[in-house]
Amino acid sequence: MFEINNIIFLKIYQFSIEFLIIRVEYQQVPLNVYHEKNCNMPAGIDDLAIYVPKLYLDYKDFAQARGIDPQKLEHGIGIKKMALVDTNQDAACMASNACLELMKKNNLHPDDIGRLYVATESSIDESKALNSFVVGMLEQVYGDSSFEHAGGIECKFACVSGSYAIYDNTNWIRAEENNDKAAIVVVTDIAKYDVGSAGEYTQGAGAVALLIKEEPRLLALDPKVTSTIIKNEYDFYRPFGKETPLVNGLYSNLLYLIQVRKAFDSYKEKAMRTGLIHLKDGESITDYIDLFTVHLPYRRMGEKALAYLLRHEWRTLPRWQHVIKEIGFDEPVPNDSRGTIESTLADKEFMKADEQFRKAFMQTSFYNEVYEQKMASSLEASNIIGNLYTASMYMGFRSLLECEFKKHHDIEGCRVGFGSYGSGSSAMVFSGVIQQSYKEIVKNMNLEEEIGFRKRLSMDEYQILRENERNLNESYARAKNEFILVKIGGSTADKAGFREYCYCN
Ligand code: COA
Repeated sequence: MFEINNIIFLKIYQFSIEFLIIRVEYQQVPLNVYHEKNCNMPAGIDDLAIYVPKLYLDYKDFAQARGIDPQKLEHGIGIKKMALVDTNQDAACMASNACLELMKKNNLHPDDIGRLYVATESSIDESKALNSFVVGMLEQVYGDSSFEHAGGIECKFACVSGSYAIYDNTNWIRAEENNDKAAIVVVTDIAKYDVGSAGEYTQGAGAVALLIKEEPRLLALDPKVTSTIIKNEYDFYRPFGKETPLVNGLYSNLLYLIQVRKAFDSYKEKAMRTGLIHLKDGESITDYIDLFTVHLPYRRMGEKALAYLLRHEWRTLPRWQHVIKEIGFDEPVPNDSRGTIESTLADKEFMKADEQFRKAFMQTSFYNEVYEQKMASSLEASNIIGNLYTASMYMGFRSLLECEFKKHHDIEGCRVGFGSYGSGSSAMVFSGVIQQSYKEIVKNMNLEEEIGFRKRLSMDEYQILRENERNLNESYARAKNEFILVKIGGSTADKAGFREYCYCN
């Protein structure tokens, strides 16, 4: 067998009607030069741009209308403003707006882009990929067929698919299949839950477009450590034709924690095996991750995910005795030894004791030190936007960059650990290192300014919007310098389902 590193020469020696002799020669050349380049070529996130719709619901208005203590929303969930899409917006508009912003701020031409992937669970067609709509919109600005050369697909796996898209595109670059072109991965979603449900206060909408390149200015992804976990589950799903998901909230919370922890275990094993991280006695791998950003269906979930991970990593280390001493009581163990999610949830006594322990752990100086230093910055954006499904972790990453910069923390060389989760269910854990040139990009970030003016909807207006009682052209906000949806369905039967978009100056 030929080795992958060998160049294969095909030589045609003789050709006639009867004979075709092809001699295959291979040469043992030092192609580990290529191999080294592949492995060591830094690739990852070069820049990112966001789009957040111009309408929001204030938590106090929402709490009053639903008879909920606003403190629960502010502190128990971690939401102050929920972003909502207008009548003339969908996931494709948001993706295109984020993408256009990314192209403009980096002076990119469509020729610079070899792939355009869109990850979403707010798809608008069962067959036609969402990135084709985005290409159509971008070509209104850059010219007909300007993206013709670029490939790409729509990716779906609840909130985790954007991470798979970034992983695949980074490997496309590492494999040098990219012909010096960059990839754009856009994560875009509308989190919409049933009225009156426990999910309703975790709504939100928005998109993040990420430029994936070699020698990235922001974050080089660590090779060979990305780890995934997958299992057929029904924690959160949205059958065809249904606008809102069916959710088993508590189950999805626990599943998220368990799946991310399992992916993290696998990441840890790979990080140690590849020599990325060397652990000494008494150390935890969490000591070597300088900043965390995780999937954020709501802010509080990020805090809980960190607590779960630290408990898992620390409970066998000497430091755990000091943690227990500060808490004042022991960590409970399940009565049921089966250890399944169902048996754990059914073990009410354990669940109650575990909740108490978790809350006490989150009050300790040990937890708070890690939380303040490594996670708090990534949670700020979630507070004023809400759940973005696929985009939530990447908005968290963006939040982390901006807030750390504003705190005057120099994070060059810091390792960021990502915990991505998608219901249904799959988790992906990976990491990357902040690059030397990151400040050039981060210094210009200003979330409030980039979101721009937003209209605070009354609960009546929200209700009307929810019921789809207004037409496309009856938007609440006035669109400016952005793509909007102007028509669904053409005048003839063969154009049923056509969506028309335009760019508003
Ligand atoms: N003041 C302050 N905090 C309060 C409060 C009050 N008056 N009342 C309740 N809280 C706290 C609770 O103690 C709890 O805190 P904890 O998480 O630290 O335990 C928090 O608010 C949430 O309240 P709780 O009653 O436990 O949950 P809920 O019924 O509001 O449901 C979800 C929360 C997340 C399960 C629900 O919003 C949901 O189903 N969301 C959609 C699915 C989802 O996002 N899943 C996540 C994984 S992908």
